[in-house]
Amino acid sequence: MKILSKEVLADSQGTRIVKITVQSPDIAAKARAGQFVVLMVNEEGERIPLTIVWADAEKGVITLIAQEAGFTTKLLGGSMPGGSLYSIVGPLGHPTEIRKYGRVILVGGGVGIAEIYPVAAAMKGAGNYVTAVIGSRTKELMILERELKEISDEVMVLTDDGSYGRKGFVTEALKELLEKEKHDLVYAVGPLPMMRAVAGVTRPFGVPARVSLNAIMVDGTGMCGCCRVSVGREVKFSCVDGPEFDASQVDWGELLTRNGIYIEKEKHICRLNNIA
Ligand code: FAD
Ligand code: FES
Ligand code: MG
Repeated sequence: MKILSKEVLADSQGTRIVKITVQSPDIAAKARAGQFVVLMVNEEGERIPLTIVWADAEKGVITLIAQEAGFTTKLLGGSMPGGSLYSIVGPLGHPTEIRKYGRVILVGGGVGIAEIYPVAAAMKGAGNYVTAVIGSRTKELMILERELKEISDEVMVLTDDGSYGRKGFVTEALKELLEKEKHDLVYAVGPLPMMRAVAGVTRPFGVPARVSLNAIMVDGTGMCGCCRVSVGREVKFSCVDGPEFDASQVDWGELLTRNGIYIEKEKHICRLNNIA
């Protein structure tokens, strides 16, 4: 699968976020908001899931946005236009249920901002009043602000250090919005502690909150069991039952533990390959 372009969207404080476009006509033709792909950068590499941020069916192109978190995303970030990905499978996962809810708040933290973008666009297309609340650690790590402003009715921008927009966390802004006005749906993607906090903030207001979980995945098709999550005391496979779930029902403690199980091995692979 040919890589058509690569752009560094953000590079600050040791965090780099890259946007790549990939020729993938079959995936582009079928992809819907909320779905993802599982890709391998090279033949020996591991498989990683990434959200389909844009799909251009006419051109047969999909856009992925990845934060360089470890070995494989750094390998991907180092790929050059003209090169190829070894494999890419998708679209995977259930699409987001898009319909007219009324007032919808999309909450994105860090690279989660890229993951809420396709859902925000589809929700707007379905006639919802869309408010995006986006947060990053610092100004240089803020992504897709202009793109979200083009398709949303309101966008609230926050940084942890106050270097841009309002100082604070997305959950504080979310709480204020819910106190001010009745909303019909909250959809959040970001680091696990942020999504867990969204579940806590939304609960007293009785507003449904959906989250797209970043459970560790291998095949992405329900075969390996790696992405197991507990939701409402039932065991679900995040890849085929999700990736979206009711935030109030997720066992966040278990997911945090499971997502950390390979950290030492992941660091070891980086050391072996001289990747910082
Ligand atoms: P590693 O050092 O191997 O891992 C860093 C951390 O990433 C780990 O501690 C673990 O929590 C997580 N992780 C590692 N391997 C996997 C794996 N195979 N599957 C899931 N998580 C893993 N990230 C983005 O930057 N952009 C996206 O659009 C995006 N969409 C995602 C959609 C879904 C449905 C899921 C489940 C995850 C998504 N992620 C996205 C997260 C991304 O898959 C991980 O950051 C990536 O796999 C890390 O791999 P690594 O080798 O670079 O880092
Ligand atoms: Fe293997 Fe979900 S990734 S079952
Ligand atoms: Mg890895």
